[in-house]
Amino acid sequence: MSPATPIITLGEPLIELSEIDSTNMYAMEQIHAQKALSGSVYQTDFQTNGKGQHGRIWESHRGENLLCTYILELNALKQGKNWVPSEQLGLSAAVALGAQAFFMEFAGEETKIKKPNDIYWRDRKAGGILIENMVKSDRWGKAIIGMGININQTTFDTIEGKPVSLKQITGKSFDPISLAKELCQHLEHRFLVLENKPFDQLLSAYNNQLYKKDELVPFKRNNIQFQAKVNGVDKDGHLLIMHGVEERIRFGEITWLL
Ligand code: BTN
Repeated sequence: MSPATPIITLGEPLIELSEIDSTNMYAMEQIHAQKALSGSVYQTDFQTNGKGQHGRIWESHRGENLLCTYILELNALKQGKNWVPSEQLGLSAAVALGAQAFFMEFAGEETKIKKPNDIYWRDRKAGGILIENMVKSDRWGKAIIGMGININQTTFDTIEGKPVSLKQITGKSFDPISLAKELCQHLEHRFLVLENKPFDQLLSAYNNQLYKKDELVPFKRNNIQFQAKVNGVDKDGHLLIMHGVEERIRFGEITWLL
């Protein structure tokens, strides 16, 4: 196998579902029924119970956006010497980088990754990622990688994250199915990096695309507002901010005021 050969082919098969509760839930059911192959992608026009991060709902108008779930057999990455399953950050970073590169292809360089794996264009959220069921203790399992990326929708029911779509950015409409296939290429490329290159290389690529990197950002902690410079994300997934001294921030410790 040449070093550039993908170890995982994504999008074969690509299963189109006109309506489903959630592509992540459907993918999980297929795994439990032993019907899911690694590389399968489930795409839908509409979700009746789309899942967002932290128990939130993911809303999307019918047929307008990219709503899909990729199944990845983590075992397929096992051949690599640089990655172990306990390093979940690696997979999360690889997926975020793939999604960011995909969106940037159409929306340009102002596309960034907001930690851990939101896709932002300027100060607005263009897409979200929900990775579930990755690894139990040291056992290799399947990752369920759900993506919701705003494509043709121009009005939003939520104000959270100030949503934006590709159509609002470019003035053009796109075919979500073609884009789901396009996204596969970007993800495959990043999985190759995850498997074959040192983790530091992936982390450095992730930090290069990090939202607000090296900028002063208003934050809030325990009801106190302050400004700090975003230095990056470390190998344990902590946000590093410069506020007098460099601090390692755990999830939920501070709120972004943007
Ligand atoms: C987030 O809250 O930012 C993550 C949103 C992930 C939404 C996608 S849409 C396709 C897949 N199926 C789901 O139910 N959720 C993910």
